[in-house]
Amino acid sequence: MPVEPGTVLDPAGAAVRGMIAAVQAEHPDRFLLLDVEPGADPGAGLTAGAAQAVVRSGRVLTPRLVAVAEAGPAARPLDPAGSVLIVGGTGRTGSRVARHLATRHGVRRLVLAGRRGPDTPGASTLVDELAVLGVTTTVVACDVSDPDAVRGLLAGIPAEHPLTGVVHAAGMADRTPLEELDPDRLGAVLDARSESLRHLAELTVDRDLALIAVLTTTGGLTGPADRAATGAADGLALAAATRWGARAPMVASDDDAGLSALSAAIDTAERFPVPGRPGRWGAPAPGRPVPPLLRGLVRPRRRSAYRAAAGVEPADRWTELLRSQVGAEREKTVADLVRAQLVQVLGLSPDEPVEPDRGFFEVGLDSLMALDLTRRLNSHAGTSLTPASVFNHPTQAALTRHLLDRLAPSE
Ligand SMILES: NC(=O)c1ccc[n+]([C@@H]2O[C@H](COP(=O)([O-])OP(=O)(O)OC[C@H]3O[C@@H](n4cnc5c(N)ncnc54)[C@H](OP(=O)(O)O)[C@@H]3O)[C@@H](O)[C@H]2O)c1
Repeated sequence: MPVEPGTVLDPAGAAVRGMIAAVQAEHPDRFLLLDVEPGADPGAGLTAGAAQAVVRSGRVLTPRLVAVAEAGPAARPLDPAGSVLIVGGTGRTGSRVARHLATRHGVRRLVLAGRRGPDTPGASTLVDELAVLGVTTTVVACDVSDPDAVRGLLAGIPAEHPLTGVVHAAGMADRTPLEELDPDRLGAVLDARSESLRHLAELTVDRDLALIAVLTTTGGLTGPADRAATGAADGLALAAATRWGARAPMVASDDDAGLSALSAAIDTAERFPVPGRPGRWGAPAPGRPVPPLLRGLVRPRRRSAYRAAAGVEPADRWTELLRSQVGAEREKTVADLVRAQLVQVLGLSPDEPVEPDRGFFEVGLDSLMALDLTRRLNSHAGTSLTPASVFNHPTQAALTRHLLDRLAPSE
């Protein structure tokens, strides 16, 4: 679902999407996530060949990551005299966020909330550590699933250091494999986030906040496995963020780049940043398809040697050859042409051909490449295919069949 400004996500739908995205990372190639508007034909989404697709007004949309514009409009700066509340600030993620806000964003007043508050093991060490960084930290015992407790928490923030930002990092970390996930566990993981988000959103509505960030995980993006419940809770969090006007950066578990998305949410107008450095991801090895989400950022590597159409005769000889063939021999010649041109368009190695029944869009083809593929096929076979042929016949086997039908029969 495209999350444009003003879009409010349906919480149940967002939870299902988040859960299936995480399950897809856990079990690649076994689940298809198709979001079809009522009354629309799901067929278009199915033939897109992508693991995730949305069908809206007859258009098939597939998710892509794009780079955060480095010089994009800046977000409102955090007032250094203000307080930032980290809900779940005593937890693993929350304490990383606290250090990051201090060292990277100059925050000098922190309020860390958790049910156990100062009794949380390690809380006093964290306060001392933050003090060395010049931060005055208050640790508060507060159950944020209780609206009265949230009221009390907000009321306790001193007027001379008014609330300037809220980071939601509370929840239940979960690593239950999909096969073992039951409704009780799923419900508990969802409740741990949904209630607190609802209360915080309602009770801060009249506050003038420079930052509201609801942290989500990278489970639905890159795995790792066993994050089905967390993925569902992330979906709910995303829906809550769209209602609350919050940002929802994804936080990864590695310390290096893991919190870069939080910084992007603070420094830029980007609402849903994910961590990672596209420059570092690089292209996959020649012959490997680019993962679908990264196709807007990473191009497959091309080897100049692959530019020669592997194993395909020049156009005039190919046409002559085809004229002399019938049946299976003819089918093979056309299949070889489709494969060779696809391999070139994708920049893959001829040694690692794409499986004939694998969806084109699943292996990295985008709409420009579809155009390139049709041009190449037309110039070789003398046909007049349009890119729609590629969308409507999105595997080598299907496109071969279609091309055979369009070529004048030789028998
Ligand atoms: N680990 C990661 O890399 C990562 C990355 C991104 C997002 N996340 C998400 O962040 C959340 C926390 O994960 P974590 O690994 O940091 O777990 P954690 O170490 O168990 O921390 C959870 C924190 O939330 C607090 N909390 C839970 N329920 C609360 C409630 N009702 N009221 C107030 N505070 C509450 C906990 O304090 P008390 O127990 O004292 O209440 C604790 O401070 C999870 O939803 C997780 O999916 C994790």
